[in-house]
Amino acid sequence: MAQERSQWTGRLGFILAASGSAIGLGNLWKFPYITYENNGGAFVLVYLAAIAVVGVPIMVAEVLLGRRSQKNPVGAFRVLAAGKPGGKWWQAVGFLGVLTGFVILSYYSVVAGWTIRYILLAVSGKLAGLAHHPAAMQSFFGEFLSNPWQQIFFHCLFMGATIGIVYFGVGRGIERAARFLMPVLLSILVMLVVYSFWTPGFGDAMRFLFRPNFSELTTGGVLEALGHSFFTLSLGMGAMLTYGSYMRKRDSIPRAALTICAMDTMIAIMACIVMFSIIFSFDFEVTKSSTILFTTLPVVFFQLPGGSAVSALFYVLVAFAALTSTISLLEVVSSYAIDELGWRRQRATLTMGAAILVFGILSAVSLGGNATLSDINFIGRSSTAGVFGTLDYLASNWFLPVGGLLIALFTGWFLGREASKEELEEGNGPLGWAFPLWRFLIRIAAPAAVGAIIVSVILGAEYQ
Ligand code: PHE
Repeated sequence: MAQERSQWTGRLGFILAASGSAIGLGNLWKFPYITYENNGGAFVLVYLAAIAVVGVPIMVAEVLLGRRSQKNPVGAFRVLAAGKPGGKWWQAVGFLGVLTGFVILSYYSVVAGWTIRYILLAVSGKLAGLAHHPAAMQSFFGEFLSNPWQQIFFHCLFMGATIGIVYFGVGRGIERAARFLMPVLLSILVMLVVYSFWTPGFGDAMRFLFRPNFSELTTGGVLEALGHSFFTLSLGMGAMLTYGSYMRKRDSIPRAALTICAMDTMIAIMACIVMFSIIFSFDFEVTKSSTILFTTLPVVFFQLPGGSAVSALFYVLVAFAALTSTISLLEVVSSYAIDELGWRRQRATLTMGAAILVFGILSAVSLGGNATLSDINFIGRSSTAGVFGTLDYLASNWFLPVGGLLIALFTGWFLGREASKEELEEGNGPLGWAFPLWRFLIRIAAPAAVGAIIVSVILGAEYQ
């Protein structure tokens, strides 16, 4: 199997695909609602700090590990850790990553499926009727969630689209999709931001987001901000590592990593500005924050001029963003099967995709369709209820930070200074002071921050 590894066709190809992975439901669905739950300002600041201190250095590290090893997450650790202390045990970090990708994709695709339902609603004109009565909108969404067949159907549709793209591989599938989807996504979002600027709630939204009140911040909120910084940047499970393995040697890793982090953060903030401006324009009571996107927003969209067009555009935006993320999740699992199990790409994407699709049915029916599955809740908070909530909680608040911590420790303490320096300067040129700064962040600051938060949550009864 001396086949050459696929590559992105250019610098932009990698940046678009990787930003596509990063920008997704995390930015448009999750960030706004956890910001809302954690009362804005202070939470946003902690999140921005987490991106800078933990997100950026780990993004650099993951891409570096991928491009250096030219492998999937398991293979990368196998190759790079060979002969180092702990040698083959590091592969476990890769396995954790592949497993996390499997788990995240299984429930992520369920939410992504909702966007298809909403595009259909908006285009067919039915959304207008529902959205004129907040109660009708709520009960529509409730019934939709508890209808197991519909949940399964849209989840399957979304998985089908994902499998269909990854099936065609890195250049013809993933990159081609990203080159089309990302510019459309950006244009739609910019239009919506301009639109929100003219709504009466714009000022309140800005105050809510950028005026911190630290007395409202909890330990749980800090963990959530940290966990989310991993989730939103697709870090801690090898997605960026896998995409990095297709990166050309003549492109710069630090520059690409910074661009991706900046784009992702910008989009998350823009999404909040749009959503909160619209919500604060009306005295609208948000009953369940995790469903803002599907119950509150449609109602407010239709209070404003052009509701049908705005809402259709909006759900297309969300669907596109989700699709470029589900692609990267499936690619991690597939590239593992291709490299490590020696499968052909077609077999890998179809088999792994089907396995994830089937596992995802548990989440799909746990939203009200099946009482047993929706009652599971060993963490005991409303947002962690059911198979769906539990998997999301475990994956984003535990698997990703733990994976990220181990990736940071490996890169900082085991990979070797020279190897990192060489890879980071390849395609970039001398890094100067930036290299020691990154080394400090990846060896000390990032592990300390992630470690401290993990320990404080384990010890602290405050949380829950
Ligand atoms: N970053 C994606 C989002 O914000 C989710 C994701 C997580 C994708 C981990 C890949 C890996 O929606």
